[in-house]
Amino acid sequence: MTVLVFGSLNMDLVVQSPRLPVPGETLLGNQFNTIPGGKGANQAVAVARQQVPTQMMGRVGADDFGQRLRHALTLDEVAVEGIQVDPNAHTGVAAIVVSDQGENHIIVVPGANSRVDKTDLSKLEVALKQADLLLLQFEIPMAAVIQAAQLAHAAGVTVIVDPAPVQAFDPSELYPYIHVLTPNQVEAAQLVGFPVDTLEQASEAIAQLHDQGAETVLIKMGEQGVLCGTPQEIFHIPAFPITVVDTVAAGDAFNGGLAAALQSGKSLTAAVTWATATAALSVSHAGAQPSLPQRSHVETFLKQQHVL
Ligand code: ATP
Ligand code: RIB
Repeated sequence: MTVLVFGSLNMDLVVQSPRLPVPGETLLGNQFNTIPGGKGANQAVAVARQQVPTQMMGRVGADDFGQRLRHALTLDEVAVEGIQVDPNAHTGVAAIVVSDQGENHIIVVPGANSRVDKTDLSKLEVALKQADLLLLQFEIPMAAVIQAAQLAHAAGVTVIVDPAPVQAFDPSELYPYIHVLTPNQVEAAQLVGFPVDTLEQASEAIAQLHDQGAETVLIKMGEQGVLCGTPQEIFHIPAFPITVVDTVAAGDAFNGGLAAALQSGKSLTAAVTWATATAALSVSHAGAQPSLPQRSHVETFLKQQHVL
């Protein structure tokens, strides 16, 4: 059985800069790289590097970036047969500025990702028959995300949703069909309509999301770690202390680590701890997919932290 990811693939156009520019300002950067990314593909690589069979489904354009993205996935043994090559759109791109302090600005131009539709959903429906778990994000059309969650629910497949970046949707069409919702602080604030800067505010946000029908809610809070809320309990898993190089894909590392840990039968607390370690290792390396750790690195790190 596999973990399926139904979502986005982007080529990240990454500029390293001494600091982030203010509006209207021109800065001289010091490096430029094209790096495989996209929240969906990042999560697929994050799972595959934990030695879990993984399949990526989505769309790229019939261009060089699309070919490179699919090739990068195959190097990590992610199955790519479910990725459609769309001749009518460019491959998704993300313009990313990373400062020497590790902060970032990201603008995504979805291209082919925005054309995921019922033909992709038909393929997903077949693939779900061989899957334990489905990972979704919000970089493809919301209608496709909602239908994917509902198909997975009907097939008895566990669904983890990363609502990034937030798009408008009706919670009653999504929350009853999913098991885990993993917003970061910005996304949580957008979902509930008030700031989510502190653990106390995160706790209030979880209560509101539960009222709207969400089951398990994990709010990713950067260096404050993760606040976890199930219908039974709320608990906090602190972040591991780590030197920050670049937080791009920290959230994806977290979701991939979480999926792999849950798929291998870990409890929620153990899975969130595993995911937090996976994310910590990713922030200590540059880039999206290049920053995602192998299973053995996560194990070694947890032993060094006296957790395993
Ligand atoms: P992304 O940058 O991919 O959008 P995100 O905003 O979705 O990430 P964050 O909350 O920033 O998510 O990070 C996800 C997880 O990564 C955190 O919950 C935490 O476990 C880990 N993490 C992020 N920043 C740090 C940090 N400075 N030190 C240690 N761990 C961190
Ligand atoms: O979560 C990080 C990702 O967000 C980047 O790889 C970029 O492609 C955007 O989708």
